[in-house]
Amino acid sequence: MINVIGLGYIGLPTALMMAAHGVDVVGTDCNEEIIAALNRGHITFQEEGLEELFESAVSQGIRFTAQYQSTDTYIVSVPTPYDKFTKKVDAAYVADAVREVLKVAEKGAVIVIESTISPGTINKYIRPLIEADEDIKGKNIQLVHAPERIIPGNMVYELIHNNRTIGADNREVGEKIRNYYASFCQGEIVITDICTAEMTKVVENTYRAVNIAFANELAKICRHADMDVYEIIRICNMHPRVNILQPGPGVGGHCISVDPWFLVGDYPGLAKVIDESMKTNDSMPDFVLNRIYEIMKENHMTDIGRVGIYGLTYKENVDDIRESPTLQMLESMARHLCGSQVKVYDPFVSENVTENQYHDFGAFLQDIDFIVIMVKHDEMKINLEKLHGKIVLDCHNICGLDGAYHL
Ligand SMILES: NC(=O)c1ccc[n+]([C@@H]2O[C@H](COP(=O)([O-])OP(=O)(O)OC[C@H]3O[C@@H](n4cnc5c(N)ncnc54)[C@H](O)[C@@H]3O)[C@@H](O)[C@H]2O)c1
Repeated sequence: MINVIGLGYIGLPTALMMAAHGVDVVGTDCNEEIIAALNRGHITFQEEGLEELFESAVSQGIRFTAQYQSTDTYIVSVPTPYDKFTKKVDAAYVADAVREVLKVAEKGAVIVIESTISPGTINKYIRPLIEADEDIKGKNIQLVHAPERIIPGNMVYELIHNNRTIGADNREVGEKIRNYYASFCQGEIVITDICTAEMTKVVENTYRAVNIAFANELAKICRHADMDVYEIIRICNMHPRVNILQPGPGVGGHCISVDPWFLVGDYPGLAKVIDESMKTNDSMPDFVLNRIYEIMKENHMTDIGRVGIYGLTYKENVDDIRESPTLQMLESMARHLCGSQVKVYDPFVSENVTENQYHDFGAFLQDIDFIVIMVKHDEMKINLEKLHGKIVLDCHNICGLDGAYHL
């Protein structure tokens, strides 16, 4: 039996996928509301294909509980934020979960850490939990790191098709865990050592962050010099070895906006490009705010209450708002004492997370003259004609409307 610890955006789909493919799974989360919802038959976030996967897992006997189970295999998928001051990984959630697991784990059990962690975290913070106690040491508990690569919005597909990495202390344990993942994963599953596995995950997200930052920096240069960044990127990308990403209003979520900081925190003297890239990406919400100010001035607009922010999530077609550029921008507006009147709408966010938040697109449009497209949800792409007559700041270059403003 596998006990999956932490049933959030990563743990829940993983637990469901394994259960749906015949693995005996118990999902555990310390949040009783999540457990109650799952036991009532409700999934706790929206994701393409998750409902069907849930039904399939339930029919195969998956169980949900707030209690840690006594078993031989654990998958830990709890949050790993970074310390905003030191930029280092905050491994406290993982350490807490492992401490609880160690109280009930069977002799020889394997604890798989799926949470993203900086290189060296297992040796520094997790292995000592086992080695500090003679009784636990005698249980011969094994540690594995199996980072997750899936992207919200396409999680179910990617769980099946992505390649995976497994870091283990020895081949035998690595193979055992690989077999569990191979129950559903059709991609290649590479076995390596733990520290390499830790580093690969952080490097993958850092690669993305640095490339996004390059596009964002080009957008800033082109704005300053009155050049068309999109046309420039389009032409550059016709070069056979150039592939520049698109600029945007910032980055959010739990990967690209967080994980590269781990390297800056651990290697401050070495991770220079990464540090500057993260700062560039983090500066984009303020850059958008400045564009809003410039465009209002150009259009002789004075009432910030007639400005509407479209999109609260950190990426399109998902309901995850963590670290989102819009929330960063609203925070910045609040600091500048102009946040409370701006209107906000997101089709995926049903609860109120900010002031003046609308839940109806028509009503939102009626109350604004200037719309800022922060997120390229499909809903926006198929309703572009509704923007006629509005001032539009299109932060993703999706609307193609005459007179629309860009980053
Ligand atoms: N969300 C993503 O897109 C993504 C992608 C790849 C990797 N990751 C990584 O996966 C990990 C989990 O991220 P997430 O987005 O699923 O987080 P999440 O916040 O959605 O879920 C974490 C869950 O763990 C539970 N939890 C916390 N401490 C616990 C404990 N001690 N015992 C039991 N349950 C506990 C929380 O209640 C929560 O439900 C993080 O390290 C993240 O960086 C996330």
